[in-house]
Amino acid sequence: MSERIPATLIPGDGIGPEIVDATLAALDALGAPFEWDRQVAGLAGVKAEGDPLPAAALDSIRRTRLALKGPLETPSGGGYRSSNVRLREEFQLYANLRPVRTLVPGGRFDKIDLVVVRENLEGLYIGHEHYVKIDDDPHAVAMATGINTRAGCRHILDFAFEHAIATGRRKVTIVHKANIMKALTGIFKETAEQLYEQKYKGRIAMDTVIVDACAMKLVIDPWQFDVLVTTNLFGDILSDLVAGLVGGLGMAPGANIGADAAIFEAVHGSAPDIAGKGLANPIALLLAAAMMLEHVGRHELAARLRQAIDRTLNVDQVRTGDLGGRASTAAFTQALVARIRNG
Ligand code: NAI
Repeated sequence: MSERIPATLIPGDGIGPEIVDATLAALDALGAPFEWDRQVAGLAGVKAEGDPLPAAALDSIRRTRLALKGPLETPSGGGYRSSNVRLREEFQLYANLRPVRTLVPGGRFDKIDLVVVRENLEGLYIGHEHYVKIDDDPHAVAMATGINTRAGCRHILDFAFEHAIATGRRKVTIVHKANIMKALTGIFKETAEQLYEQKYKGRIAMDTVIVDACAMKLVIDPWQFDVLVTTNLFGDILSDLVAGLVGGLGMAPGANIGADAAIFEAVHGSAPDIAGKGLANPIALLLAAAMMLEHVGRHELAARLRQAIDRTLNVDQVRTGDLGGRASTAAFTQALVARIRNG
């Protein structure tokens, strides 16, 4: 029996606690490989501690350097700044790795196996914004500043190429908008092309595509792509798009990786429209837990979890509503735990 690995657990908001419970049940059935330090953040942090990112949660991640996190709610428009963005900044989690794979065959798009690598700390997404007041309109003009650095581009591009080569991928596609945002995303394309010439040519294929064309190509012929690497905002949008190719947001996990910490989560948000109803699909967070197991070297447990998910979906045909099934979160979890225990 291996020692339990200390890790921070943040159940999150909305459907967060429901999908976290499902994931904990699966991990318990796998022998409880993590020793959890449970913390709150997001709206739950505001309610419990008056802070969407309490110091105790940050201290915990500083200690464990490893976390599993449910979605955290961020108010749109006004209100507090995203705790997700702050967590990524605090721990310099520069790489957001978002793999999507077809798990239920026979859908509109079959045999999808794509990875989106999203830059996580720069670009327009970081929210350096302000309004300019004119006369009596305090919101007369809205401004945002995007910042991409050579070093930041190199960091994420190196990560994407190294990850692609290490996992036996065939091609890395650089997604940009350098025809219009010539500096902001031109630097990303330019750095990619230089890096490829210096380090990666002959080891893996590379091509480039403009983000709008990429979106169209992804829905017409997604199989032409393999690993997509892009700046923060484009990565945010494209990773939801590719989740849609494999059945929706309930199927897409994400890992936020930095030199000193890694935080695993679902790509989706807190889904307030279905929160508390027992309808949520926990697979995205379960797959995030599988990525977390791989990250700490517990590959055999990750493989068992992935196989159990596959058999629950395709042999037992137990599926939640978003996948066209009728199972509640609890019924899916029960079937999954039985598969983990019995194979
Ligand atoms: P969302 O991802 O929560 O929901 C979009 C749609 O997908 C909804 O119809 C929802 O019911 C459905 N959905 C999402 N996950 C599902 C699941 N596991 N099973 C079944 N259906 C699922 O996006 P939305 O509504 O834009 O955001 C809600 C809140 O979540 C916002 O406050 C947002 O800021 C936050 N958010 C947090 C993220 C994080 O913590 N990493 C990521 C994205 C959004």
